[in-house]
Amino acid sequence: MCGIVGYIGTQQAAPLIVSGLKRLEYRGYDSAGVCIISDSGARIEKKAGRVADLEKYVDISSMTGTVGVGHTRWATHGVPNDVNAHPHTDQSGSIALVHNGIIENYLTIKKKLLNAGYTFRSETDSEVLAVFIGMLYETLQDMELAVRTALSEVEGTFGLVVLSTHEPDMIIAARRGSPLILGIGNGEYLVASDAAAVISHTRQVVYLNENEMAILRRDGFSTKTIENVDTRSVVEEISFELEQIEKGGFEHFMLKEIFEQPTTFHDGFRGRLQIDAGTVKLGGLASVADKLRAAKRIIITACGTSWHAGLVGEYLIEHLARVPVEVEYASEFRYRNPIIHSDDIVIAISQSGETADTLAAIREAKLKGATVIGMVNVVGSTIARETDAGVYLHAGPEIGVASTKAFTSQLCVLTQFALYLGRMRSLSSEQGREVALGLANIPAQIRSILDRSEEIRSIALEYANVSNFLYLGRGYNFPAALEGALKLKEISYIHAEGYPAAEMKHGPIALIDAELPVVFIAPKDEIYDKILSNIEEVRARSGKVIVIADEDDTHIHTVANHVIRVPRTLPMLAPILASIPLQLLAYYIAVERGCNVDMPRNLAKSVTVE
Ligand code: M6R
Repeated sequence: MCGIVGYIGTQQAAPLIVSGLKRLEYRGYDSAGVCIISDSGARIEKKAGRVADLEKYVDISSMTGTVGVGHTRWATHGVPNDVNAHPHTDQSGSIALVHNGIIENYLTIKKKLLNAGYTFRSETDSEVLAVFIGMLYETLQDMELAVRTALSEVEGTFGLVVLSTHEPDMIIAARRGSPLILGIGNGEYLVASDAAAVISHTRQVVYLNENEMAILRRDGFSTKTIENVDTRSVVEEISFELEQIEKGGFEHFMLKEIFEQPTTFHDGFRGRLQIDAGTVKLGGLASVADKLRAAKRIIITACGTSWHAGLVGEYLIEHLARVPVEVEYASEFRYRNPIIHSDDIVIAISQSGETADTLAAIREAKLKGATVIGMVNVVGSTIARETDAGVYLHAGPEIGVASTKAFTSQLCVLTQFALYLGRMRSLSSEQGREVALGLANIPAQIRSILDRSEEIRSIALEYANVSNFLYLGRGYNFPAALEGALKLKEISYIHAEGYPAAEMKHGPIALIDAELPVVFIAPKDEIYDKILSNIEEVRARSGKVIVIADEDDTHIHTVANHVIRVPRTLPMLAPILASIPLQLLAYYIAVERGCNVDMPRNLAKSVTVE
């Protein structure tokens, strides 16, 4: 959600913090602020809008000092304005705090503080915490103790950083439910909500654990639990390169990430796929292989795009491994007291590995005795660390808020998982080989679709001004339709719905008129004729038909206004190829409408609050 960057060292902190904030803007971008501590006190500058707006408002180089913290916000409590922007201070203005997450009992704490005569400027829960720490400091006269005492009374989630003029050569960081990492430099230390903010200074990082605090000083750092028990920190190396989080000549991260898919998809099966044996080697699952062999049921839990990938996973696993699968929104699963047996396998799918609902679902499943597997992109993320076993997506950093390459990598990993499980059960090596070969061909097939991106752009331009879109697919392509609709609505703000094509007649057909474009995903599989009937139903009502069809389909152009051709593949792999033109269609429409595709309104890349 929000982004945090803190620095203590020998360099000027403000420019360094601002450049880190820019790399974190995809996490939240409705306001930005910086606090620098120097001999003249704490100087705070904050502004609604992007980091660039803050830079226009204040000369960052005039904020001198070698200790500081910055924040980009994704509003939870209080509208995005200058006052609600972080950092927040205590009553005296000598303690500054930035906070990701939600303090659930902030109203109770605020009431106590109001009764004691404290006042507030903002509507935020975070300011309440800053004032509370300040009040505790007045009696305790020890910053670390004041923060720890406050956090012991707090309910909710936080990744926070506190600075103070009382103890100016120290940064305090703490996490519960919201990620923080420490960057270990040469005589300098950083703290950030994301490795992207520290990689230009150091590759050496420490991932803070749940309920852990870090005290950063100029000459070193220590970690401990919030309850004050020393912990041992493990220094790890960031697993990606700086250029992977830069645009590399593309206009937007989203476009770059769409075009990276031949490579990222290949990285998802490289060293795993064993074509001759018709199987796959998933080292991260070796420790749970016996449990997988004995599993009676698989539950997939995720949110958003990752949930759509999970729906494809259901079809794949039931098809290749014949194990029943249920797919659950993590936000529902966590609260509905799900029935879980000890021989259930729960798979959590997440790009960021930090999604609060998915994390909570995992914890619920573990509590009830299931074996939990993670399919996660971000190495070292909380979900990756809290699951019993897992398979990384290896898609590299995804910065565009709309997930693209992570989705196809999720399908890559899910196909391999289904193959792995199938080969443990009744799938023959011959059947396995067919799937493995199909997967191995996908990168070149994606490339051939990308080569035709201009065609997709010209279709997009025709539909940039419509108000509604319908996406229809059947079987494996029903989740692809959902994902196509989600992509369009989140970056273009056009209302779009995805449906199983046959469901159209049970309601959405009422929407169809000459203004409504309907996107069909119609590869020549065993239900092709059925989907042709659905296309006719739309044509009969004057709807505009855009079809994603096989490149050798000689009939489809007679029933469609536009055809986007994709190479032939196995039916189970069709949603992978279909998602490429759907991503491009959404992208080009959004750009034509003048939308900020990398940072769509109201969204954030990783949703670390409920
Ligand atoms: O990081 P996760 O995969 O757990 O995120 C889940 C959703 O928040 C995410 O997929 C969201 O729907 C994206 N904006 C989709 O493009």
